[in-house]
Amino acid sequence: MFVTREVPKGGLDILRTAPDIERLDINLEDRVLSRQELLARVKGRDGVLSLLTDKIDAEVMDAARGCKVFANFAVGFDNIDIRAATERGILVTNTPGVLTDATADLAWALLFAVARRIVEADRFTREGKFKGWGPMMFLGGDVTGRTLGIVGAGRIGAAVARRSVGFKMTVLYHDPRPNPDMERETGARRVDLDTLLRESDFVSIHTLLNEETRHLIGKRELELMKPTAYLINTSRGPVIDENALVEALRTKRIAGAGLDVYEEEPKLAPGLAELDNAVLLPHIASATFWTRTRMAEMAATNLLAALRGQRPPNLVNPEAWKAGPA
Ligand code: GLV
Repeated sequence: MFVTREVPKGGLDILRTAPDIERLDINLEDRVLSRQELLARVKGRDGVLSLLTDKIDAEVMDAARGCKVFANFAVGFDNIDIRAATERGILVTNTPGVLTDATADLAWALLFAVARRIVEADRFTREGKFKGWGPMMFLGGDVTGRTLGIVGAGRIGAAVARRSVGFKMTVLYHDPRPNPDMERETGARRVDLDTLLRESDFVSIHTLLNEETRHLIGKRELELMKPTAYLINTSRGPVIDENALVEALRTKRIAGAGLDVYEEEPKLAPGLAELDNAVLLPHIASATFWTRTRMAEMAATNLLAALRGQRPPNLVNPEAWKAGPA
């Protein structure tokens, strides 16, 4: 079994103490393995605990011939070619649920940070520029009573919506499937994407990344938004055309953006880092002690179940299971 990078101890302990596991290899260097290293180190493994920064495609799967499972340490699994895994009878698992609240909290942290200009104001204060209170200093966007647009009303989108109740916000959402629980709890109304973009003061993205959602928010969509509106993304970078977003922020076509994810992570689109109306975080939505520990435990549990011929609790490609345990 191979763990592509050190994860919290709770998960590693589950693997280390499993009586039936013969060989456990962990990459203890705190860095992403290069493509060549990944190809070499997955060879001969019965299971791999992978991270969202590992691109697990057909080539890696073939290098890992005989591997039964890729247990991803993430809820998202767009780093894994699911079709290629299913064709090979390889199980893929993820870590849903345990990062819902941490991610929703961070979406709100970004929302407030960008609307109330927290980062800019902090920098100003540290630089010794605060010479006294001023009536025109750091005016920002209002949150209470405004309209929140949720794109993707799954677990995380709904958790973000739920947090808006205390701020007396109107909630709109766009999702191919209705979410009646969320509607009941927040009064949310399901609308088409264009209506959501036109009417929302805050647009928060919570979709999966797939071929339908890649560049869901591009130039046209940004132009539909209010010039006073803010865009928040804690899902996956490629859902937004980042170059179009830089242009919209630069020309003040929209008021601001709070981003935790990027189109070509860890690279930022040219010009993004120079913009004061963007708050930029290094993909830390699930980065709390509790959440990362639970994620590691879940990934380890999924991995062990698959190696023991049991159906893993968080299987994302049940078709591979139906074909019979590998
Ligand atoms: C983080 O981005 C995750 O998908 O868990």
